[in-house]
Formats: sequence, structure tokens, C-alpha cells
Amino acid sequence: MQPWSVKYQPKSTEFTQGQNKAVEEVKSFLGSFPKKRAALVYGPPGSGKTSMVHAVAGENELEIIEVNASDVRNAESIKEKLGPAMMQMSLFSRGKLILVDEIDGVSGSADRGGISELAKLLDKTQFPVIMTANDPFDKKFSTLRKKSAMIEFRTLAYPSVLAVLKKIAEKESIEYDEVSLETLARRAGGDLRGAINDLQTLAENTKKLSKGDVDELSGRRQADTMINALMRILKTTSPEVALPALEDVDEDTDEIFLWIDENLPKEYKDHEDLAKAYDVLSRADVFRGRILRRQHWRFLVYINDLLTAGIALSKKERYPGFNKYTRTTRILKMWMFNQKNAKRKSIAGKIAEKTHTSSRRAIQDTLPYVRVIFKKNKAEAEKLAEYFELDDAEIDYLKK
Ligand SMILES: Nc1ncnc2c1ncn2[C@@H]1O[C@H](COP(=O)(O)OP(=O)(O)O)[C@@H](O)[C@H]1O
Ligand SMILES: [Mg+2]
Repeated sequence: MQPWSVKYQPKSTEFTQGQNKAVEEVKSFLGSFPKKRAALVYGPPGSGKTSMVHAVAGENELEIIEVNASDVRNAESIKEKLGPAMMQMSLFSRGKLILVDEIDGVSGSADRGGISELAKLLDKTQFPVIMTANDPFDKKFSTLRKKSAMIEFRTLAYPSVLAVLKKIAEKESIEYDEVSLETLARRAGGDLRGAINDLQTLAENTKKLSKGDVDELSGRRQADTMINALMRILKTTSPEVALPALEDVDEDTDEIFLWIDENLPKEYKDHEDLAKAYDVLSRADVFRGRILRRQHWRFLVYINDLLTAGIALSKKERYPGFNKYTRTTRILKMWMFNQKNAKRKSIAGKIAEKTHTSSRRAIQDTLPYVRVIFKKNKAEAEKLAEYFELDDAEIDYLKK
């Protein structure tokens, strides 16, 4: 099975979405070589860096020598792998382009010196070198930056992501509704590779993409990150491990409280530990209340510390075993109850007005009969609905 992100990798810059400016800059870097011997192409994952370098090389009939930087972490292996490629003439007298992909992981420390070795090689290379990175502004890259043309790939805009997904969906004969595809594109946050992978996961076998699938996938993702965070907090006794646990979590604070509340008793079996942990949770809740009422946002950091290190240190020691953490259902139940209640109240209000009585009386005395009529007598129900001026949602409620 071939990943669609590879199958649909653009063969030429004609077929690339967005990134026009960056593509022009890559081309002009190649044109001006050897004035600058290297370019540092940077931007978020899935924005098209690697595939664009390939596309430009293809157009210029350049042979690509590609090294993934994760294979050449230290000075030794960089010299070994890249040195010869940078010096030799191409066998078929075709031009060459050297791609050092994803240099973020190369060691910058003086003893292992991968980066400084790379920087030295840049002075001598016979062929243009393109490096890619997610974040090139780390201090360890400062010499590389000075020697390179800096080319930024911006986060891909949503319409570009959508356009690529559409093209792929059509080529793969996938039945999709517009909204699902749009949702998938929007949630990718500019990571086109991620979006393509999601589309393949959801639609390759079924040849269909539905809104339900898309929502389920993103719900599952959020739950996964929350469960990982909970695992870190509840399974450790070290504050260093616990403190950053919530950094990647996208749920809002209210949801996080509910997750912890729901899962604490599964993990903390000792009642003293459990009491301590709930005490911490309730103190965090006090700060949350102050933020809501008085907008004291600086309390946010206390909330984080309490929910992570505070909860983690409430136990005397780590509990063994594996517990399945789950999302709380409490809020959902409350919400459903309130919704129902709200309908009942609004209907009673309307009945009360027409029958000149209180809402409370209407709920007690009139509503039960109205409900029976709505279940048994359609014609009569329609008349009543009109008389009481009920809306569709209220009518639905009475029919149930
Ligand atoms: N601008 C683009 N136009 C068309 N397809 C793209 C674009 N950017 C990325 N892709 C698709 O997404 C995949 C991942 O892109 P890639 O170049 O590997 O991103 P990066 O190297 O920035 O992480 C590519 O294989 C290609 O299928
Ligand atoms: Mg890449």
C-alpha cells in the first residue's frame, strides 16, 4: 500500500499549491549558485519543503543526492556521507543538487559537532546544497544561517489544503460531501501531509468520506492526547514529569477538570491519596472561579501547577497496573437534561399565557394532557400547536 502523500507528490512546481514565493526563491537560489552555496528551507511539517525541492530539481534535470539528517547526526558521518557527494562531478555530467533533509535533529554540541562539520563542507561544495528544518532559529544553526539563503515555507493556507484533498478524492473516486472535506482540511492546521494521511485512513477502503468519520477521528485524537497527559500526571511522583503534561492538550480547562475528576478514583486506590488529590482539584477550582469572576488570568499558572504536579504529588507512591481512562459523561448528561427541561419550560410558558395560569400549573395540570393529544390525535395536535404558537423543536418534544 502506497501512502497517498507519496503517490500524489507534485512532480513539477506547476502542480504545487500555495508557496509560490518560496518556490521562486528556491529557483533563484539555484540560478545564482555559486554566489550562495546553500539554502536553508524552513517551515512547519507538511508544508511542502521536501517535495518542492524534488519538484524544482526535476524541472531543472538535476540529480538529487538526498541525505536524511537523522542518519548523519555527528561530524564523522556527515563528512563520510556528504563530503564525497559534494566534491565529485556527476557521472552523467548532469548537475547535482544535495538535499540535507530535516537538520533539526543534528547535534550542535561542540564535541560531536555535526552542525559545524556541515558548515565547513558548505564552503567547499561543488554543488548547491539545500537543507530543510522546522525551526532554523535555534542558536546552534547560527553559522549555517549566515552561509545560506533563507527561504521560508509558510503554513499552508486552508484553501490550498482543500484543493489538494479534492484533487486526490476525485482521482481516487471517493464519494464525499463538501462539508466533511472542508472540516478535514481546516483541522489539518496547514499540515498537508497529515491531512492526506487522514483522508487515506478514513476513505481508502470505504471509498466514502462522511462527516461522522471526520468528527470521530478528531475526537479520538483529542482524547488520545488527554489520556497521555493523564497517564503522565497520575503515574508519576516527579514534578518535572508532571508539570508539562498538559502542554499539548487542546481541551479547555473545564474539560480537563472533568477528565481528572472522572479518572482519579480509578488510579488512586488509597483513600488518603484520593482525598488529598480531590483537595488539590478543589483548590484549582477556586482559582478557576476567581479567573471567571475577576479575570485574574495570572492564576492560570497556579491551576496548571495544581492540576499537574499537585495531583501527581498527592500520592505516596506510584500505583502499579494499567487503568483505562475515559472521558466523562457527566456534563453531557447534565446538558441533555437541561435541554429537555428548557423545552418543557418554554412550552409551559406558552400554554400558561393562553390559558391564563402560571407556568407551574401548566406543567402540572395541562402539559400531561397536551402530550397525550400530541401522541394520539394528529389533527387536534396541529390545532393546538397553532393556538399555542409552538415552534418545530417544541412540537418534536411533545411528540416524544
Ligand atoms: N504545496 C503543495 N502542493 C501540493 N502538494 C503538497 C504541497 N505541500 C505538500 N504536499 C503534499 O504533502 C506531502 C508532504 O509534503 P512534504 O514536502 O513532505 O512536506 P515537508 O517536507 O514540508 O514536511 C507531499 O508528499 C505532497 O503530497
Ligand atoms: Mg520533509
